[in-house]
Amino acid sequence: MIKQATTLIVALFIISCSTQERVSENREKVFIDSLMNVMTLEEKIGQLNLPTSGDITTGQASSSDIGQKIIKGEVGGLFNIKTASKIREVQRIAVEDSRLKIPLIFGMDVIHGYKTVFPVPLALSCTWDMELIEKSAQIAAKEASADGICWTFSPMVDIARDPRWGRITEGAGEDPYLGSVIAKAMVEGYQGDDLTANNTIMACVKHFALYGAAEAGRDYNTVDMSRLRMYNEYLPPYKAAVDAGVGSVMTSFNTVDGIPASGNKWLLTDLLRNEWGFDGFVVTDYTAINEMIAHGLGDLQKVSELAIEAGTDMDMVGEGFLKTLKKSLDEGKITEQDIDNACKRILEAKYRLGLFEDPYKYCDLKRDKTDIYTDEHLAIARKIASESFVLLKNDNHTLPLKKKGTIALIGPLADNAENMAGSWSVAGDFEKNISLKQGLENVAGSNVTILYARGANITSDPGLEARVSIFGKPTRRDDRPESVMIQEAIATAKKADVIVAAMGEPSEMSGESSSLSNIELPENQRTLLKELLKTGKPVVLVLFTGRPLAIKWESENIPSILNVWFGGSQTGNAIADVLFGDVNPSGKLTTTFPQNTGQIPLYYNHLNTGRPLEGEWFVKFKSNYLDVSNEPVYPFGYGLSYSTFEYRDLSLNKSQVTKSDSIDVQITLTNTGKVAGSEVTQLYIRDLAASISRPVKELKGFTKTYLEPGQSKTLHFTLHNDELSFYNSNLKWVSEPGEFNVYVGGSSQDNLSANFELID
Ligand code: BGC
Repeated sequence: MIKQATTLIVALFIISCSTQERVSENREKVFIDSLMNVMTLEEKIGQLNLPTSGDITTGQASSSDIGQKIIKGEVGGLFNIKTASKIREVQRIAVEDSRLKIPLIFGMDVIHGYKTVFPVPLALSCTWDMELIEKSAQIAAKEASADGICWTFSPMVDIARDPRWGRITEGAGEDPYLGSVIAKAMVEGYQGDDLTANNTIMACVKHFALYGAAEAGRDYNTVDMSRLRMYNEYLPPYKAAVDAGVGSVMTSFNTVDGIPASGNKWLLTDLLRNEWGFDGFVVTDYTAINEMIAHGLGDLQKVSELAIEAGTDMDMVGEGFLKTLKKSLDEGKITEQDIDNACKRILEAKYRLGLFEDPYKYCDLKRDKTDIYTDEHLAIARKIASESFVLLKNDNHTLPLKKKGTIALIGPLADNAENMAGSWSVAGDFEKNISLKQGLENVAGSNVTILYARGANITSDPGLEARVSIFGKPTRRDDRPESVMIQEAIATAKKADVIVAAMGEPSEMSGESSSLSNIELPENQRTLLKELLKTGKPVVLVLFTGRPLAIKWESENIPSILNVWFGGSQTGNAIADVLFGDVNPSGKLTTTFPQNTGQIPLYYNHLNTGRPLEGEWFVKFKSNYLDVSNEPVYPFGYGLSYSTFEYRDLSLNKSQVTKSDSIDVQITLTNTGKVAGSEVTQLYIRDLAASISRPVKELKGFTKTYLEPGQSKTLHFTLHNDELSFYNSNLKWVSEPGEFNVYVGGSSQDNLSANFELID
């Protein structure tokens, strides 16, 4: 039922529909055409404007600046506003007080959960569990939509191979295949089967494109890469999101081939719409049109023209469209069709969300009591978090801990609930997160005594600490001298059977505008670790981080390391589950951990050089460094378990395969440990000779298998022509006859191998 649209629009809609076949696409077209027929140019331009909620306060929405703009039809959507009651109040202005009563779309950065916060996306990817990842997006959609939101600026699928870049934490790591599978799972989780349902929301894949390849890992920096690399390595996850039906795409801040993404017609029209068939709308990133001025593309009018002509539909915050498009049209610099196209796509999105049918669809005032931060959601968050942790090292079976004796819990992140959320948690109540201390107390039981000492600040540099303590996530710097804190920690450690050291980065040391030039553990924390080791007690390092850290020293000296990223609401409970062995860790890395910052970029799926180092480091005139080997500390795909897994009997069902056929790969996996556990088995290929240089290994399949101790399973993978194909130098998707290696195992380095030939 159409409740709020004007009589005029309703009449046009009904008349038109009665003469058309009532198939949904037709209904949409007829409705939108009818609506656009009665829109003024100003109203059309207004639809392209996406401000933040700004000065809106409850009860005063109409009189706010934004309220006034909405009444004038100058706003298409709003973001950074939440709660059903507040959004209802603002929506009411749009659908009652503006001339055409067009509903607004309400967006938000719902990145890894809403009130129930899930692990940061990089951590989520380490579960390699698509069902869980999709579930996390589905819950995020349910909670956000119960709070009035119908559009999320997620998933972020930027391939990132430079851990200096803080936003590596927001994506799925370094691999295009895994990134693509995750992109699909996230889009399907948010959007569900029915976008008009009140518990699903529209996704927005970002940042299109190549944002993760900023030079030197410095945020917003220049990106420049070959088309070949784009097509084969960086574009696949965006395309996977488009293929999964994502409703919107966000442009990136960076240049692509010298032109900022928001003004790049090749990117937004030739590639996205014409080649990939995307039929949703394109929104810019925050003030990205205006930033084209600093990129050196012209003044506000000029860059707004470039953006609309390139295929940008909605202008986030900058108001370049609102301020200049009419003038550009009057001067003949752009066409009315450019504006119509953009307006139409935004109206289509609103239609697809069901907002014309019921603009208050996502404003049910009761749902926030039943659908947000529920026990069920928290239980799933706890499970997902425990599966995202990666056990990097576990000498002498230091883990799991026994549920008896005394634990010394030491470190700047041991008793900090707020920083468990990770960056981009816009709706979480940070104080409600479970800290590690609280989690250990919850899970340990009555036979364990937990002693606590802070031991160190995040860093000795108060300036750096201040820069990473924003957004309501305090690090609570301790002003005592470092030596006093260390002495207290040693005294505490001496009373215990085992030391759990909670160290690493706080939430905001990664994320947007949080690039680092050195990704080692801060020196003062390493000093504390050295002192703790001197006590002779076993040390377990629980490492909090939003990026791979260069932990060569730690990997050589600390007996046990559990990398826990930022686990969200239930972090502490989930860590305790793993530390005490109630959950057997199964996470595997989706980014390489380098030895030092100078090795960056270091990623498993690189091309070979003409002088590869094949044996031991160092060999003169081979591709290597004088001061460090080429090896990572921990490779892509790596992660330990409390069980051990053995791979044997890798076999292929044929030694030759044609392009129209497929090949079956099978391997037997056995849990040779004493406890049940899950193993992520990975399949990689290498195309040995092709018309262009191909990666030394490429992930082409994976599966996660749960096995009881002693249990074996035969795993099957199928390779089709598609998995053997790539973009050649003419950017054509081809497979080329020749030999391929297949590798299967528990990481990108530890594999059994076989080979086969692709024939015409
Ligand atoms: C970020 C985007 C985000 C947007 C809106 C920008 O600064 O780059 O990822 O969606 O802000 O909050």
